[in-house]
Amino acid sequence: MTKTILLTGGTGFIGSHTAVEMIQEGYRIVLADDLSNSSRKVVDRIEEITGTRPAFYPIDVADREALRDLFSRERLDGVIHFAGFKAVGESTEKPLDYYENNLGATMNLLRVMEEFGVKTIVFSSSATVYGQGGLMPCTETMPRGVCVNPYGWTKSMSEQILTDASAADPDLSVVLLRYFNPIGAHPSGLIGEDPQGIPNNLMPFVAQVAVGRREELTIFGNDYDTPDGTCRRDYIHVCDLAEGHVKAIAFGEGRKGVEVFNLGTGTPYSVLEVVETFARVSGVSVPWRFGPRRAGDLPDLWADPAKATEVLGWKAGRTLEDMCRDAWNWQRNNPRGYEGEE
Ligand code: UD1
Repeated sequence: MTKTILLTGGTGFIGSHTAVEMIQEGYRIVLADDLSNSSRKVVDRIEEITGTRPAFYPIDVADREALRDLFSRERLDGVIHFAGFKAVGESTEKPLDYYENNLGATMNLLRVMEEFGVKTIVFSSSATVYGQGGLMPCTETMPRGVCVNPYGWTKSMSEQILTDASAADPDLSVVLLRYFNPIGAHPSGLIGEDPQGIPNNLMPFVAQVAVGRREELTIFGNDYDTPDGTCRRDYIHVCDLAEGHVKAIAFGEGRKGVEVFNLGTGTPYSVLEVVETFARVSGVSVPWRFGPRRAGDLPDLWADPAKATEVLGWKAGRTLEDMCRDAWNWQRNNPRGYEGEE
């Protein structure tokens, strides 16, 4: 029987790619998104790629009545919870907005799931919950650490809320997915990352420089204790990440308790390696200069992804070249994102 899964934040970067993979795996998908940081056009693009139009509810997941209405119309087998504010810098300026929105959405969702007897949830967490100063690679047995910004704390606190809810409800199944650095785009070039304003993250900035929207990239710091002096991260193709969600929802269904998985490749690349690889595979020059360090950046951050391989049977297969090629293909085809304007 076809399973129906709700994706909150389903028109966002990771939600949209996950929707495509889930539909292609035979799931029926329901998207909920208030469109505060994404476009309605994503729904058309998902249909264009898969031939199936997902149900779409333009609602705020923190809105109890709107969510109850959705749950009463759809018979859901599980939820993947992506919805949340995610700009690190903004979270330090508006911490209460972040705590209210991100924690409010998680709690509201759990309340409504309880009311309607939906027992499986996969949560979109982040490697940021490991905090600062840990040994690399990060393993799931390491404790969560001291986060460096309110965004990170909302992920860490949501993990705690979900863990406590699962302890109190023996039928609840919670899967926490800790993403490392998701980049790239669907190879069709129809969906991808579409940040509003000046991008905070490396890959969208590089892609916007390549397409001529920004003059040059500033590389934040070249005096780190790393092989080339720039920070290293575990970049993962968003389609590999999406496949991880398909495995996670199948794993979560019908079980009980909490399980946590890193989703990364296990191989770190430096900022310089990313920029050089992007320029090589795109054939476009990416002007850059070194600037000062950015507050809160760690020299190194990468995953031990062994647990996801052993337990979920998942492994990231796409290379840094694939990530850069697909990011460029998306950017070139949609130079100004979904709306075609800033
Ligand atoms: C950040 C957040 C993480 C969040 C992720 C995705 C922190 C410490 N990390 O990860 O919680 O899940 O974004 O939203 O808050 N860089 C440049 N120039 C730029 C942009 C980035 O040199 O213009 C460098 C950064 O210094 C870093 C690397 O590129 O070394 C990756 O940066 P970014 O894409 O922002 O991701 P993280 O900071 O790793």
